[in-house]
Amino acid sequence: MTAALSVRGLRVAYGAVTAVRDIDLVVGADEAVAVIGSNGAGKTSMLRGIMGLAGASAGELLFNGASIAGLRTHTIARCGIGYVPEGRELFPGLTVKEELQIGGRFLPRAEQAVKLDEAFELFPRLRERQGQITRTLSGGEQQMVAIARTLMSRPRLLLLDEPSLGLAPVIQDVVYAALASLRQREGLPMLLVEQNAHRALNLCSRAYVLELGQIVRVAESASLRNDPAIQAAYLGN
Ligand SMILES: Nc1ncnc2c1ncn2[C@@H]1O[C@H](COP(=O)(O)OP(=O)(O)OP(=O)(O)O)[C@@H](O)[C@H]1O
Ligand SMILES: [Mg+2]
Repeated sequence: MTAALSVRGLRVAYGAVTAVRDIDLVVGADEAVAVIGSNGAGKTSMLRGIMGLAGASAGELLFNGASIAGLRTHTIARCGIGYVPEGRELFPGLTVKEELQIGGRFLPRAEQAVKLDEAFELFPRLRERQGQITRTLSGGEQQMVAIARTLMSRPRLLLLDEPSLGLAPVIQDVVYAALASLRQREGLPMLLVEQNAHRALNLCSRAYVLELGQIVRVAESASLRNDPAIQAAYLGN
């Protein structure tokens, strides 16, 4: 089966600073894969490189077997890659419902309504808050909006940048339960970057470890969870 995403030799640089190099990774067609790494490891740069958002990047990028290298970001999104950025990047002044409608703007109108209902089923809190300006939502609710907005475009691959960042554990539970349910119901392939290795390894079957801009390890989540070096560096025990 063709992989959802295949990355070879990805390099992202900002002027003289190389943020990531020699990144080789694969997300299978029915797989959730994690990239764990600490602050500054290059997680965001890697995702931005895939999405065509990093100024200078090089490497081979295949989405469902077709090259997306060098394409504009909106074209990559239209191809079916949904990106939930670090920091959520919601539009100022819009309500929850308006924000979600923007995510679904390319769908036929009838389908927009169906997707909106699905988003509210996934995050019932957002149905209650649909008329509220997103700026006034809690951080957790904003993260739900960011994920739901991306899902509105009916992606065939989801890239997630630290969805647990800054959220209380109970809210992380809600967000991760929603991601797990998407995996279970739709088998939506995902590439998840996280500092929160516990969360990432629970959701994903495999993980890559990113250190100083390079992949230093790839393994099944279970074997990483039991590895003393990984425990010491990423699992806080
Ligand atoms: N716009 C930029 N200009 C110059 N250097 C940058 C830029 N963005 C990131 N960097 C550098 O690239 C490296 C990787 O940063 P990146 O944000 O990708 O890491 P990260 O793993 O996402 O970190 P965090 O966990 O803090 O989000 C860092 O050394 C950072 O200083
Ligand atoms: Mg980051």
